[in-house]
Amino acid sequence: MANDNRKVLLVGGAGYVGSVMTAHLLKKGWSVRCLDQLIYKNESSAWPHLSHPQYEFMRGDIRNPNIFPQALKDVDDVVILAGLVGDPITKTYPEESDAINRVGVGSFIDAVQDHSVERLIFVSTCSNYGLVERDEAVDENYPLAPLSLYAKHKVAMEQKILALKGRVGFCPTVLRFATAFGLSSRMRFDLTVNEFVRELHMGKELLVFDPKTWRPYCHVKDFSRAVEQVLTASADKVAFEVFNVGCEANNFTKLMIVEEIVKHLPRSKVAYQERGTDPRNYRVNFEKIRRRLNFTPEVSVQQGISEILASLRQGLFDHVEEQKHFFGNYEIFLPETRVSALRRAV
Ligand SMILES: NC(=O)c1ccc[n+]([C@@H]2O[C@H](COP(=O)([O-])OP(=O)(O)OC[C@H]3O[C@@H](n4cnc5c(N)ncnc54)[C@H](O)[C@@H]3O)[C@@H](O)[C@H]2O)c1
Repeated sequence: MANDNRKVLLVGGAGYVGSVMTAHLLKKGWSVRCLDQLIYKNESSAWPHLSHPQYEFMRGDIRNPNIFPQALKDVDDVVILAGLVGDPITKTYPEESDAINRVGVGSFIDAVQDHSVERLIFVSTCSNYGLVERDEAVDENYPLAPLSLYAKHKVAMEQKILALKGRVGFCPTVLRFATAFGLSSRMRFDLTVNEFVRELHMGKELLVFDPKTWRPYCHVKDFSRAVEQVLTASADKVAFEVFNVGCEANNFTKLMIVEEIVKHLPRSKVAYQERGTDPRNYRVNFEKIRRRLNFTPEVSVQQGISEILASLRQGLFDHVEEQKHFFGNYEIFLPETRVSALRRAV
């Protein structure tokens, strides 16, 4: 399918993944509309695109269905990235998570059905596999066992979308992303690879919980390529399909990640501790996306480590501590959370 003159709506397009995806899709000829509430005060991640004639930014909250018609006007493709992302932030804000990740995303999916959208991608997560006891790399058919509120809502939204089969005219696809790493204009240093590289670069002693637990990783740029590939694939290959996004070579334990970083920073101090608060452990099989869409990520974890380290060494992230809210999902800034914070202060 040609992408000329196609307009894609990236919901949550100013986030860590969305910022990189915006640049990629603009380069590939899409018109991009970004709908984002900028809940991490992440306005600056939209700035690099503002002068692009094919880019449009719309500030709005997916908890407010009144904005959906304007957001969906003249849109061909939709990618849903928005939400409170990660186990820790959803644990800190359970009510907001429910309102955004379940009710907001759910009503947005309902609204898509009333517009002439052709493709819908819902970005989900390999976290949905939870704790895999068996020594195997799990594929898309493996039973889901979401452990966190974050993953439980993702599973609920996947099910909502897949249940639309036979009832809607558009073509939806669920993508279960591996854990991301790599540079973005909305950089997140709360993600394992990025965080470990920064901590060790700063000469801090790194405490690693459950070093032998496995997780799949994928570079942010490769997620953009995967989305492009799904948007341009013939509908019979992707309609109502679920794909894990990543590659087996990037299944890493935390210990393996540390060992790679230490090759660059041999004087690093690392301590290990078993039984942390996050029991997730899963290796993932990516054969389906490789075979059906011929998709393989280009960037290895090792290359990602070098890329992040190079930018840290150039001093590009010297002020992370001063703007912590921007560089990770720790604290959200919604109009009503500002009010309650003010109330707490008086
Ligand atoms: N980063 C990862 O490692 C990873 C792994 C697997 C899946 N994913 C999925 O990829 C997607 C993007 O993740 P990310 O790392 O870019 O997260 P992010 O937190 O950087 O981006 C989320 C964006 O959504 C916006 N947003 C939040 N609530 C909103 C609301 N109510 N209305 C409008 N916009 C709102 C935020 O302002 C932010 O720009 C998410 O769906 C996530 O579940 C990410």
